[in-house]
Amino acid sequence: MLRARRLFRALRSCSSAPCPRPRPSARLSVRDALGSLGTSGERVKVQEFPIKYKERHPLEYLRQYPHLRCRTNILGSILRVRSEATAAIHSFFKDSGFVHIHTPIITSNDCEGAGELFQVEPSSKINLPEKNFFDVPAFLTVSGQLHLEVMSGAFTQVFTFGPTFRAENSQSRRHLAEFYMVEAEISFIESLQDLMQVMEELFKATTMMVLSNCPEDVELCHKFIAPGHKDRLEHMLKNNFLIISYTEAIEILKKASQNFTFTPEWGADLQTEHEKYLVKHCGNIPVFVINYPLALKPFYMRDNEDGPQHTVAAVDLLVPGIGELFGGSLREERHHVLEQRLARSGLTEAYQWYLDLRRFGSVPHGGFGMGFERYLQCILGIDNIKDVVPFPRFTHSCLL
Ligand code: 4AD
Ligand code: MG
Repeated sequence: MLRARRLFRALRSCSSAPCPRPRPSARLSVRDALGSLGTSGERVKVQEFPIKYKERHPLEYLRQYPHLRCRTNILGSILRVRSEATAAIHSFFKDSGFVHIHTPIITSNDCEGAGELFQVEPSSKINLPEKNFFDVPAFLTVSGQLHLEVMSGAFTQVFTFGPTFRAENSQSRRHLAEFYMVEAEISFIESLQDLMQVMEELFKATTMMVLSNCPEDVELCHKFIAPGHKDRLEHMLKNNFLIISYTEAIEILKKASQNFTFTPEWGADLQTEHEKYLVKHCGNIPVFVINYPLALKPFYMRDNEDGPQHTVAAVDLLVPGIGELFGGSLREERHHVLEQRLARSGLTEAYQWYLDLRRFGSVPHGGFGMGFERYLQCILGIDNIKDVVPFPRFTHSCLL
């Protein structure tokens, strides 16, 4: 049994102080914690402790204890994989010559235009809506893309990897109000093909690094949470990702024998049920869906000028079990086209600075965003997004 002194020693070796060994081996497990002594020397009350170390509790049960569940084997493994994957993503971009940019968390723009914004004001001003702290309405970022586009004009290849916020009224297995997004922006990209190549390389290189750096942790998830997922992941890694157009996707869905809740129709958004069907139809290999209807997508996506079914150069990557993992596009770099799009959406005034990027020297460019939690779900086979983040935030829930 660990005594208090040993407990402190174990905790110290897990702290952020420089550690001489590359892999700290000390972990504070449920069992260790139960064996330790309280501050006044009394033994921890095992009966009252909600996690039994000999039992395999469902992830859903553990979710009630965000302050304790990290001491279980399974959350320990998931969160170590999360840490390794973070490092792998940074190293992928560094090795590929990208510059890392800290895009702002507080912003005055709504990049996606979907209105899923959290507004930021000091608590003392909440009841004085006419007086904005920043003089303009400010929000938590829904995407660092527009700030990255500014930077891609100077550094060519840039990425950001940070918290992202969406006031989505959803408790689904793949939505959070606070999640991490990996975003890249690349100048001189002229085709979706070039963009998709970077997306596929990012997915595959990061996953290979994770598999080689923490195999035991990945295996624990595959063995106890998602039996058979190891083979499914290998299948994704060894095959080239597929590409279909949005129009082809709608045709496939229309011919499907499955009854969907939302009837597939050209011009309507793909729903999760459609995305999952498409991936299955493609043999459970990740599939890029390209060229979506212009009317469905934000102002910044490049117009394909292809009527009568008018599309933009957008791309989503759909993966087994999850659906959409990446969203990206070529950006509208032509000043006059962008000006018209902004005017039609009534955004001309707000986006003068964005027009400036085209006015003062513009090159073809494109970029994408990958939901980091969905990525972890995809490689580990974890059903619910709330189990791959230390402290999940979603509608009606902000524990701790
Ligand atoms: O498709 P989205 O909305 O794309 C953008 O925000 C672009 N501006 C990114 C870019 O081009 N730089 O979001 C990108 C990805 C989605 O594909 C999904 O994986 C994830 O972010 N995502 C979420 N993940 C968890 N919870 C949510 N509420 C999410 N919303 C989007
Ligand atoms: Mg999207």
